[in-house]
Formats: sequence, structure tokens, C-alpha cells
Amino acid sequence: MKSKVDRDEYRRAMGCFATGVAVVTTCDKNGARVGLTISSFNSVSLDPPLVLWSIAHDSLSYATFMEAEFFAVNVLAMNQQDISERFAKSGRNKFDGLVCGVGINGAPILPEYSAVYECRTEYHYDGGDHKIIVGRVLKFEDRGTDPLIFYRGHFLAQEA
Ligand SMILES: Cc1cc2nc3c(=O)[nH]c(=O)nc-3n(C[C@H](O)[C@H](O)[C@H](O)COP(=O)(O)O)c2cc1C
Repeated sequence: MKSKVDRDEYRRAMGCFATGVAVVTTCDKNGARVGLTISSFNSVSLDPPLVLWSIAHDSLSYATFMEAEFFAVNVLAMNQQDISERFAKSGRNKFDGLVCGVGINGAPILPEYSAVYECRTEYHYDGGDHKIIVGRVLKFEDRGTDPLIFYRGHFLAQEA
């Protein structure tokens, strides 16, 4: 058992915990669409329906999400690895060529997803180099498709 935390070893060890992958979206005060790939999403409470995710302080979309009253969590389906990679690249133009729906308060809804949760921001908590965002689910849809799974730095291979 290790007591001192080596950054790379720690990242590798945390990769044992398999997660789904989602793209969290919102729009800024000028109406520009913003989104990033996350794996830190989880359910917190059923009643009330609360979820959480965390955003790195150095994310370009950090300030926008800190100000956002609403956001949407688009859970990616097994065949959406390309979307995960697109939204994991820092910067603008991530939505180019995507025909999105419009969620509560303009939060973009991706054309495809396994499930989507539309949320109102309830709390922010400090979390080291991340901020933890807790939202209340106001609306959701489950399309019943198998989700994309991420572990040990890789996506679980899609069945042929
Ligand atoms: C599978 C996967 C999971 C990720 N999870 C998170 C996360 O939970 N929180 C986070 O801030 N960044 C996460 N990232 C990194 C962001 O997607 C990445 O830093 C992105 O470029 C941020 O975009 P922005 O700088 O335009 O805001 C993840 C990346 C991948 C590929």
C-alpha cells in the first residue's frame, strides 16, 4: 500500500475505476455553445434528483460553467468515441457540423446520446484543482442504447 502519492501512479490507479463518458453543455451569456467531455459524472441523490460532476480550473469553459444556471449532461453511447475526442480538445468550434437540439435555457443537446439529463445548477464545492458542480435534474431522456465506457485511459472496445 502506497502512502505518498506519485501523480502518474495515482492517475493509473484511478483508471481502474471504470466510468461512463458524457459531454456537458451550456451556453454563455452571449449565446455561444460550450461543452467538454467528462467522466466525473455521478448520481448524488434520488429525492431530490441531484447529480454531480467536476471541472478543472484550467478548463477554457470553467468560467462559463461557473456562471451557468443550467447545463445538460449528454451521456455518450458506445459508438460515440469520436464525439468524446472532439469535446476533449480544448477550445472553440467543438459544435461545428453538429445539428444539436436546444435544451433548457439554450443548453445544446447533442444529436445522439445514450441518455441526457437537463439540470439547474444547485451548488459549487471546492475540490482541489477542480470545482464540483451539483445540479438538480429537471428533465431527462433514456434512449436505451449501451453507453461508452472508459477505464485505464482507454475506451472499452465496441463489440463487433
Ligand atoms: C474520458 C475523458 C474524461 C474527462 N473527464 C473530465 C472531467 O471530469 N472534468 C474535466 O474538467 N475534464 C475532463 N476531461 C478533460 C476535458 O475534456 C478537456 O480538458 C477539455 O479539453 C476541456 O475543454 P475546454 O478547455 O474547452 O473547456 C476528460 C477527458 C476525457 C477524454
